[in-house]
Amino acid sequence: MITVSQAPMRRILVTSALPYANGPLHFGHILEAVQTDIWARALRMAGHECFYVCADDTHGTPIMLKAQAEGVTAEELIAGIAAEHRATYQDFLIDHSIFHSTHSDENRRCTEQLFQSLDTAGYISRRSIRQAYDASAQMFLPDRYVKGTCPRCQAIDQYGDSCEVCGATYSPSDLKDPISVISGTTPVERESEHLFFRLDAFEPMLREWTRSGAIHESVANKLEEWFSAGLRDWDISRDAPYFGFEIPGHPGKYFYVWLDAPVGYMAASLALAERKGLDFTRWWAADSDAELHHFIGKDILYFHTLFWPAVLQGAGFRRPTQVHAHGFLTVNGQKMSKSRGTFITGRRYLERLPPEPLRYYFAAKLGPGIDDMDLSLDDFVSRFNSDVVGKLVNIASRCSGFIARAGGRLARTLPDPSLYTEFAAVGPRIAALYESRDFIAAIREIAALADRANQYIDAQKPWNLAKDPARAADVVAVCTQGINLFRVLMTYLAPVLPAMAERAGHFLGHPVARWDDVTLPLLGTELAAYEPLAIRLDPKVVATLIEENPTAAPAPAQPAAATTSTAAVAPKPATPAPEANAAGKGEITIDDFSKLDLRIGKVLECGLVEGSDKLLRLQIDLGNGDIRQIFSGIRESYAPETMVGRNVVVIANLKPRKMRFGISQGMVLCASNDNPGVFLVSPDDGGTLGMTVS
Ligand code: 2FM
Ligand code: ZN
Repeated sequence: MITVSQAPMRRILVTSALPYANGPLHFGHILEAVQTDIWARALRMAGHECFYVCADDTHGTPIMLKAQAEGVTAEELIAGIAAEHRATYQDFLIDHSIFHSTHSDENRRCTEQLFQSLDTAGYISRRSIRQAYDASAQMFLPDRYVKGTCPRCQAIDQYGDSCEVCGATYSPSDLKDPISVISGTTPVERESEHLFFRLDAFEPMLREWTRSGAIHESVANKLEEWFSAGLRDWDISRDAPYFGFEIPGHPGKYFYVWLDAPVGYMAASLALAERKGLDFTRWWAADSDAELHHFIGKDILYFHTLFWPAVLQGAGFRRPTQVHAHGFLTVNGQKMSKSRGTFITGRRYLERLPPEPLRYYFAAKLGPGIDDMDLSLDDFVSRFNSDVVGKLVNIASRCSGFIARAGGRLARTLPDPSLYTEFAAVGPRIAALYESRDFIAAIREIAALADRANQYIDAQKPWNLAKDPARAADVVAVCTQGINLFRVLMTYLAPVLPAMAERAGHFLGHPVARWDDVTLPLLGTELAAYEPLAIRLDPKVVATLIEENPTAAPAPAQPAAATTSTAAVAPKPATPAPEANAAGKGEITIDDFSKLDLRIGKVLECGLVEGSDKLLRLQIDLGNGDIRQIFSGIRESYAPETMVGRNVVVIANLKPRKMRFGISQGMVLCASNDNPGVFLVSPDDGGTLGMTVS
């Protein structure tokens, strides 16, 4: 028989990004927690020790101001949010070993120790910087707390770090007519001494670490860009008033939230170790034999793949084994948005639906890379109803009735042992796919096995056999086979559907706990009464996840992007980025450009798209019989009838995008500005259908 894993037990500490303690958990956070939780459960099922720690990220100006706006202390604010976050994670079956807080004694101790070690080793420098200061609020202003007119395109009401209209990046002092978001007064410039972490000292180490398998290669390429742009010193201090930890020996200066946030991973594990009598240093010592894995969204890579490993190494600790980044989540093909009602909170979902369908759907769409992933509500309903209820649960519900009627005991032998062996043999591959975060592939393989199990039952037709009393033993044998195949599948899905696996374990009289539990089939044992394991999703209920008449979000007490960086939702710029050009995009090479397959196409048909006031549906001929359906956001500027017969420029090799209205197989190039609208880019005379644009 097949054994799944004889590998020695590994000691693993795994984290997901710490959510800010300034608002509810949304689907972006849930996606990341589900990904991490599935991974941790899968490794535990292989017999490894795996602690999953997380915490609330509680410090910084936005939280301080939010508490002031609500008339509570920052401590009161974060205590309320922590309770809410804990309950939401639990209700999504996230099995944290501990959920802690960065505003904790453990985090203060760890942060001070790290800082002290870095300072002693000469990695902290001091210098004065000039910064915007709000004299009436008596505080220095982070970049996004200053607004004004863009120095480049003159757009009004732009943040102090970048222009959302033309993409220019600059500093607050470059803005014209700047005002403080806090008081509405004009900020002044003031000097203050800050402490800096000397990141550039770690460049050789970081270059080596990034190529050591610690990050996915798509991410390593991103890091190359940052190396080429040059690593800059990192300002790790903030002036009072600030909600955080005061820096020992530097009265009035506080550790910047992004310094003590990742230290929160360490602090959470310290609290866990102290509560459970575990060995903290075993995870963190420079010569640790344990593994350290961080799951994050791609928006916070800079902090986790440059600053954090460098801080750890500089302070004499180990570096992360791997940093696993995922892409952003869109809903029905679009960025989550409060005004569209698609900014779905975990609680909104839980008020309507059980957690496991969403866990299943996220798993079915999560791969190892940083591609963005779309939650399509229709697809969500059909995937869960078809795969889990229709295929998996169906096996148990069909077979259990026959066995119950025959006395409730499984047969002593399997009628098709080789089919069982085939199912059990897939275990190591499924375990490996989970570990490499290729959940898409794991779910695909499991779904294919579920099809085979159903085919087996359909071919054996126990319902026909049951009509003949002489075949009673055959009925039990066939259903014993079915129940055993179900057990294998349920085991493979246990990291994703833990509550269902637990109920199935109860029904089977055997817990579903480890991969190698399925090495041998269950034979001759008694089954408990079958209780339905999952119910179908009702599309009408699922549709209510999206708010019908979303009220516009109330004016934030502070800039949103500075407060709610997100586990998986596309953020406004928050990470230090390499130099950007006027369009806000980094330099590319001619090789990058040549990856685009730009072609001239002729519009054959064009029509309105029901339910969208932005899109037109186009049929475009790209030559050589290549006819594409493309949705383009040009409705406000072009009437459909004016489009037919036109030549347009199309990105022909853009990954097809599934939209609510159908699949869009490319993109029509346009030039746009908020005002006065959208303009098609079209070829000059002589440019004809099928030509390559270069
Ligand atoms: O981006 C965010 O939401 C941060 N609160 C993540 C912090 S992760 C870690 F560094 F603590
Ligand atoms: Zn601008």
